Amino acid sequence: MSESFEIRSSLKSYRIRIGTGLFRLTDAQSDDLFVVSDAGLAQYWPQLTHPRNIGIEAVESAKTLDTVARVIEQMRRLGAQRQSRMIAVGGGIVQDVATFCAACYMRGIDWSYYPTTLLGMVDSCIGGKSSINVGAYKNIAGNYYPPDEIVIDTDFCRTLPRTEQIAGLCEAAKICFAHRDDSFERYLGLTEPQQFLQKGQFGEVIALSLRTKKHFIEADEFDQGERLLLNFGHTFGHAIEGASGYAITHGVAVGLGMLAALHMSKSLGLFDTQPARAQALAQHVEQLLRHVAGLSEAVLTISPAAALDKFKSDKKHRKTQYAVVLVDGGGYLVRHFIPVDPNSEALIMAAFESIRRPYS
Ligand SMILES: NC(=O)c1ccc[n+]([C@@H]2O[C@H](COP(=O)([O-])OP(=O)(O)OC[C@H]3O[C@@H](n4cnc5c(N)ncnc54)[C@H](O)[C@@H]3O)[C@@H](O)[C@H]2O)c1
Repeated sequence: MSESFEIRSSLKSYRIRIGTGLFRLTDAQSDDLFVVSDAGLAQYWPQLTHPRNIGIEAVESAKTLDTVARVIEQMRRLGAQRQSRMIAVGGGIVQDVATFCAACYMRGIDWSYYPTTLLGMVDSCIGGKSSINVGAYKNIAGNYYPPDEIVIDTDFCRTLPRTEQIAGLCEAAKICFAHRDDSFERYLGLTEPQQFLQKGQFGEVIALSLRTKKHFIEADEFDQGERLLLNFGHTFGHAIEGASGYAITHGVAVGLGMLAALHMSKSLGLFDTQPARAQALAQHVEQLLRHVAGLSEAVLTISPAAALDKFKSDKKHRKTQYAVVLVDGGGYLVRHFIPVDPNSEALIMAAFESIRRPYS
């Protein structure tokens, strides 16, 4: 399959292409082309052994201002000018660092992005956000600076470990569930067949997820209203990710975070019996998580108290209220504010406790 569409943004409108065999560094000989890539990918993609390639280790501890400074310094040393173009090749870690660097380097240069993880392809590649960790605070610094083009070559999925595929599917499920139209039913239709994971053909899911996310971005470019629903699973998920010392990967933590948010929705009385739509989501996420090696052991290392601590540092909370995205009695997402007090904190801890169980 191949597909192409445009995202309209007040900052810049940009085109997305999805297909196979799309990754090539055009103008590779040009002095004005600079590559920022996941250092682990050159073993699969020899094109990345480029004279002006700057490698980043794709680990959460590298998503820092120090890495941003190192990339900017290397670009300068390699001769990047205001007219130069950056090509970023990698998953969400590379994207977050590259977005920040492209925006800051000489006050902004053109750039293109080739996502290489399923999470990058179904979710993070559009929307133009960067998120950088500072000290213990995840995603606390950032900006909006969309690339000029996004090229999704699904061939990158062939070398992607199973856990990373599951991480991407958790994010795609979340995006489709967040929309009130039939995106979630269509998502389930594409992913339910038994052989779906074995076949490894993700093109249609990527296109569905991105078209659904496009709805949220174009409706609310700067996270002031509807787009905030996409934080479903994230306030809990970031806490789970952090409390596991990043042993649980981001998308998998979002999957667990959605289950924790469902638990919290019930504790707060948003429903007595889980609505059918939410039940379908929970079943699907449970099925996906079964394929994540070592998850049952990893969740036991998470202390609910440590997770609560991380939960409290989420940037979306207010001084006296925790902000969470929950599920209502109809099975749809709602933004919810709960008081910052011991009672709420006991419920949050119970939600974290609920995900500490076997998954396979
Ligand atoms: N800016 C945004 O809008 C946004 C949205 C969602 C997530 N994020 C961030 O993205 C990060 C997670 O990114 P991610 O899940 O895409 O993964 P990642 O960049 O952390 O990569 C995960 C692992 O997969 C490997 N890998 C990448 N591509 C590969 C390929 N094609 N074949 C084999 N191995 C490959 C990497 O080397 C790494 O080991 C988190 O820090 C999260 O906060 C950002």
